[in-house]
Amino acid sequence: RDSYFKESKATRQQAWEEKQLQKAVKEDGTDEIMVPNSEKYDFVFDNDAAIDFTEEDDEILPEKDAEYDTHLSERLDAEQNRTKSIQEMRKLLPVFQYREELLQAIKDNQILIVVGETGSGKTTQLPQYLVEEGYTNSGKLQIAVTQPRRVAATSVAARVAEEMDVCIGKEVGYSIRFEDKTSEKTVLKYMTDGMLLREILTDPELKRYSCIMIDEAHERTLATDILLGLLKDILVHRKDLKLLISSATMNATKFSRFFGGCPIFNVPGRRYPVDIHYTLQPEANYLHAAISTIFQIHTSQELPGDVLVFLTGQEEIESARDKIEEIANKLGSGIPQMIIAPIYANLPQEQQDQIFVQTPPNCRKIVLATNIAETSLTIDGIKFVIDPGYVKENSFVPATGMSQLLTVPCSRASVDQRAGRAGRVGPGKCYRLFTKWSYYNELEMMPKPEIVRTNLANTVLLLLSLGISDLIKFPMLDKPSIASLTNSLEDLYLMGALNSKGKITRLGRIMCEFPCEPQFAKVLHSAATHEQCKGTLEECTDIVAMLHETASLFVGRSKDASSHIVGEVDSDHLLYLQIYQEWKNSNYSRAWCQDHKVQYKTLCRVRNIRNQLWKCAEQMGLVVMNETYRRKQVDFTQEINTRISKSFISGFPMNIAQLGTTGYRTTGKKSSSGLNVHIHPSSVLIEQTRENAKKPSKYVLYQRLMLTSKEFMRDCLPIYTESWLIEMVPQIFKKPNNQN
Ligand code: CDP
Ligand code: MG
Repeated sequence: RDSYFKESKATRQQAWEEKQLQKAVKEDGTDEIMVPNSEKYDFVFDNDAAIDFTEEDDEILPEKDAEYDTHLSERLDAEQNRTKSIQEMRKLLPVFQYREELLQAIKDNQILIVVGETGSGKTTQLPQYLVEEGYTNSGKLQIAVTQPRRVAATSVAARVAEEMDVCIGKEVGYSIRFEDKTSEKTVLKYMTDGMLLREILTDPELKRYSCIMIDEAHERTLATDILLGLLKDILVHRKDLKLLISSATMNATKFSRFFGGCPIFNVPGRRYPVDIHYTLQPEANYLHAAISTIFQIHTSQELPGDVLVFLTGQEEIESARDKIEEIANKLGSGIPQMIIAPIYANLPQEQQDQIFVQTPPNCRKIVLATNIAETSLTIDGIKFVIDPGYVKENSFVPATGMSQLLTVPCSRASVDQRAGRAGRVGPGKCYRLFTKWSYYNELEMMPKPEIVRTNLANTVLLLLSLGISDLIKFPMLDKPSIASLTNSLEDLYLMGALNSKGKITRLGRIMCEFPCEPQFAKVLHSAATHEQCKGTLEECTDIVAMLHETASLFVGRSKDASSHIVGEVDSDHLLYLQIYQEWKNSNYSRAWCQDHKVQYKTLCRVRNIRNQLWKCAEQMGLVVMNETYRRKQVDFTQEINTRISKSFISGFPMNIAQLGTTGYRTTGKKSSSGLNVHIHPSSVLIEQTRENAKKPSKYVLYQRLMLTSKEFMRDCLPIYTESWLIEMVPQIFKKPNNQN
């Protein structure tokens, strides 16, 4: 197998050139960016497909050696042989050696920054030390630990519950959007940063907590940044509240400066050296290159040694998994067994455990992860890292005036973190799927904090509802531009959340109360109260709940089994409604899901979300208003779909595309010129126009834009009548002059 790497230069050059010719990007967009189309590009695993990397010893991520970590080999040994109890294992983690010093530092300081290598025990151990030290005052107070991602919150909580030998949801719990696994007994609560932010709405001084740990602060998510700004003020009023900020090494001094020079506690950790390899040429298709590299490693490198691959998102990960399985099947018993373990932000809990399961002998685990594995989760046994060098980020696109998820190159700080993941158990290797030149000349040094690259409308609304009206003075690690703030205020005004004086309206407050994006809240509000929409609250609630879970709705990513429904409806929104209602009519049965190839667990989550939204609507008095109106209507079915459409228009007036001579173009605010967009092939709108030879509608409302080979609109609703837009959002859509 070593011959794999020893092909003559000429052959490899030729193969590379052929590959450039063949770089087929899936045109129909059913996959994420740059995914090879299996029909157009039949990937075969042979020497021609090999990726050329720089030589060994070319560049090394230096070893971090330290005598203090004498326990590491003992610990890894125990991990391998499972000889130690979970309590003994805890004592072998790097932070344990600093337990007393850490607790003393926390006692002496209201704010402490803790910095340490990934895997040293910050997230799982520090909060337990606080509980052991009595910070929860015998269960009267709680400790909150925030995480930027849902998966990290749930999986870490599960681990800590196991270590403390309690059931998850009792003493140790978690809270993520739409899922609260805590109880009266809970003293230690892992939660997303967004959830803690929401709690400040109802508990502005965070009275129930004695300690807050803002974990993974270096990620600089919008919610984390805002939390730090708010906490700065809360701590002044709550002298007894402790704040721990834990971070990878990247940004620690910045946090310290922000909090008036508070101390930084450094937990040293060990890392073995990591050989870094770069590709000799830029790779046209990183997913293809990643799959090639996986097989190159698998067939040429020793076992044990698991592989960690950094990809950008769920769809990319799922399609890579399919491809790898297909190739592995073709190769059959010619190669050692592979276990493929995906991990991404919305991976359902029931599928998460696989990544932590110890790899059996003569077997290799291939972890396909988003940048969640960069610092948030530690996976034992990783020896090889494959890094295409991309990340999916929320980015503000000035041309459209909107934020959208874009795949962009990572920063140097990120790719170095990723490489470090290969050196935890022993010397490792990292294969970067970009050139050395690119690393030194093209990558930014640091990732950009979310606050400077995203639309801030929802955050501004939250701050205003907390009574923070002077946004310029609000303390922030990095300030968003004035233009960005003005833009957000304008959006909020157009949504009706602010009045012309910039004060929050009653509607604005209601939008904040709902546990979903304010835009969805506005849809629900209109569905119950707006003259043109009311009476449709129930339907709109079902649809809004479904829209939260569309990514994992269908088994095998197809709607074939729901085709009887697809034929009947003219929008994705009504398709989702119909699916939900049929499932409900089947008494929420599992069999219905199997028959229709819909994920049962996903629909159960939808039902939960739906019930929470409904409860909130009840509390706001919307349900009563809706039902009063509905009772008065004799025949409602005629106009119900129109009313649903209008509700969505009121919530998403910025998400509307207009048909022109060159296809659809985004509309929205006058400042943006519009962008060419296409209906996503998975949308029922495509089938409608094809099968019924219907003319495409003049306008389309979409729930999100997705950039793959083209700019696609997902989850679409056709708008046949311009007057709907003029009626619902006259602020944006005006009557043409000749009709005046
Ligand atoms: O937060 P930090 O990166 O410093 O480390 P941690 O998340 O507290 O993890 C400490 C150790 O716990 C890791 O090295 C893993 O070996 C172990 N762990 C685990 O086995 N399973 C989990 N779900 C989480 C952590
Ligand atoms: Mg951690």
